[in-house]
This record gives sequence, structure tokens and C-alpha cells, in this order.
Amino acid sequence: MYETINSPFDYGGLTLKNRILFAPTSMGLPREQWLARLEAIASGGCAMIIIGDVPVSRHGFTPSLHTSDGFAFYTQLAQRIHAHDCRLCAQLHQSDSNLGAMLKYVPGVLSGRISKAQLRPLLNEQVGPYITGLSVRRIHAITEHFGETAVLAQKAGFDMVQIHGDRMCGSFSSAIYNLRQDAYGGSAEHRARFAVEAVRAVRSRLPELPIDYKLAVRQQTPSYGNAGVLESELPIFVPLLEQAGVTSFHVALANHSALSDTIPPAGHPCFGGEGCFLHLCDQVRRLTRLPVCGVGGLTDPGFIEAQLSAGRIDCAAMSRQLIADPDWPNKVFSGNCDAIRRCVRCNRKCLGGMMAHQGVHCIYEKESDL
Ligand SMILES: Cc1cc2nc3c(=O)[nH]c(=O)nc-3n(C[C@H](O)[C@H](O)[C@H](O)COP(=O)(O)O)c2cc1C
Ligand code: SF4
Repeated sequence: MYETINSPFDYGGLTLKNRILFAPTSMGLPREQWLARLEAIASGGCAMIIIGDVPVSRHGFTPSLHTSDGFAFYTQLAQRIHAHDCRLCAQLHQSDSNLGAMLKYVPGVLSGRISKAQLRPLLNEQVGPYITGLSVRRIHAITEHFGETAVLAQKAGFDMVQIHGDRMCGSFSSAIYNLRQDAYGGSAEHRARFAVEAVRAVRSRLPELPIDYKLAVRQQTPSYGNAGVLESELPIFVPLLEQAGVTSFHVALANHSALSDTIPPAGHPCFGGEGCFLHLCDQVRRLTRLPVCGVGGLTDPGFIEAQLSAGRIDCAAMSRQLIADPDWPNKVFSGNCDAIRRCVRCNRKCLGGMMAHQGVHCIYEKESDL
């Protein structure tokens, strides 16, 4: 009944055993707990796990491949995930937060004068000046870091990399944040240059490595998402990224409006439904023959099978549904769909847990697990 979901697929040169991926998800959990969670997701039957926000520098909230400790962690992770016949992808991430500008908010946050909800728009205000003011020398260093980090990722055992098209790639792509007047700003072709050079830095070092691109799209009507690529600019960005060496696209709404737009709850005015970002995939589909992966509110086996078999998407990525029930794939393949714990998109313990610095959890976990 779910033949397409359970069929192998050549995802940009990497054979996946089925069409279900774990979407990039930063978890904020202690390492052993994180490993155990990822292992449960791998053993639940998905074809590939994408590790969210792997920094391209030595620093970040997620371990860095550039430190011996971080490299050892990812090597162990790859072994444990591969033992379940599951592939592993590193989402290569460069923050667009200006650390210097953030420091001035630290006293306000510590004293409680600035809440976390108030902090986010304050930090977003810094993104434009930061991107616009980065020196070309610094830009080249950062794009080269994408290539250097991909080499380390492959050595550690990752099967592919995903360039995080939000964050710094997304801010360079967006005319809202990128007000540069040089070769990295202005026209859409110029705004694509940073992302294109990041992809090329990987491709020039690793000619065979599959490179996924998280294409962060700014919806125009109604308007949602501020970083990333406008829908009307996709015909420029998609071919440029493809020529640079991208082998597949992972399509989602762009960042830097509210977090609840990119991780939408069930009651969201625009994105509350099943497959809430698939209309963005349709646009990308028309522009490339490369594989397209959908993400966003995908929970229902029948709906997902229909989208895959119709050729609307090639793979379905899930974040919250595999947090709620890592065994979703195996339950679907064994005809046990009624036993699935369906994600109700409440955002209480996953996004809520992350925002409260308690790590990502789910309402279905027993108190003793939390
Ligand atoms: C707790 C949490 C952390 C996330 N971390 C990342 C991340 O590190 N990188 C990223 O690109 N997306 C991240 N996302 C977004 C997901 O990849 C996904 O696009 C989004 O949650 C919508 O999919 P879903 O409805 O299946 O949850 C995160 C989502 C959640 C819930
Ligand atoms: S806490 Fe709610 S939204 Fe988050 S994974 Fe669990 S059911 Fe889904």
C-alpha cells in the first residue's frame, strides 16, 4: 500500500533505502541522550538523518568537526547510525549573528529586562548591517570553510552534506538583509554568489560527494520569511546552484520571521495543514530535474504516499513526526499505521523545550524520560 514510500531512491548519487528522511533538527540535548535519540530514529526505519547546524568553524552550539573532540563525536555517531542501515548527512551551517553586537544584550538578558522573545527581533536587526559590512576577504574565508568542513564530514563518516541555505547563505540571498553594492549584493545573481561559492568550495574538493541544498524560500503572498530566496527569484537561484554542484534540493520556508512560521503549529494561519510547504517544492520542481525533498507538516502516510507517487516530491523529510514517533517508517512498512503516535504540532516540548534550554522532547515522552 505504501510502495513508493518504501522504495529505494537515488538521491543525487546516494542510494536511499526508502523516501523518509529525518529533517535537520538541533536538539540541545546532552551528547549521550542525543546519540540515543538519533539511534532510535535510525532504528525506526528512516533512510537518512540530517544533522542540523554542524558549524563550518570551530565554534557553534553543535559540536564542530574542526575540534578533535567534535570529530570523534561525529565518527562515533556515523558508526552508530550506519549500524542501522541508515545514511547520515551533515548540514553545514554558518551563523549570520554578529557575536560582537550580541554581547551588548547579555546584561539585559541576564537581568531579565530583555526576554528571549524580545531578543530575537533585536538580533535580527543586526543581521543586515553584519552581512552588508563583511569584508570580501572574510567572505572568501567563510565560503572556503564550507569546503574544508565537508572534507572533515566525509572523513568522519557522513555520506553527504547539506548546505544550510538559510542563516548566512540565506541572509546573503535576501534583498532585505543584503544591502551590499559589490559583486555579492544588488541583483539576484549577485546575492546568490555567496551560496554558489560555498557550494563550489565543497565541489572543488570533493567531486563525487552528493551535495543537498536547503533552499529557504520567501513566500510572497501572503508574505512569510525574510532571509532566503523570493519565490520570483527561484528561476535565477536554482540553475546557479545546480551549476555550482548541488545534487538535490530540500525546500522549506525561509527564516527570520517568527520561528513558528518555519516550525508551524497546527493553528498557524497559513501553514497549519499537512505538507504546508509543498507548494514551494512545486515551483522548484519546474526549474530542475534534480531530486526535490519536501518538509513541513508531513505526518500522514496516505498523504505522503500520494505526493511521492504523483512525483510532486522525491523524498519526505520529517522533524517533529520522527521526534513524536521514531518508528513511523517501520510502522508504515509493517501495515501498523494505527499504532503511530501522530505529531499534533503543538510545539510544546520540541520547539518549546529548545526555547526553554531543556532540549528537544515530546509530549508523548513519559515524565521519567524527560
Ligand atoms: C526543535 C527543532 C529544531 C530544528 N533545528 C533545525 C536546524 O538545526 N536546521 C534546520 O535547517 N532546520 C531546523 N528545524 C526545522 C526542521 O528541519 C523542519 O524544517 C521544520 O520543523 C518543519 O518540519 P516538521 O513539520 O516535520 O517539523 C528544526 C525544527 C525543530 C522542531
Ligand atoms: S511536542 Fe507536540 S509538536 Fe513537538 S513533536 Fe511532540 S507532538 Fe509534535
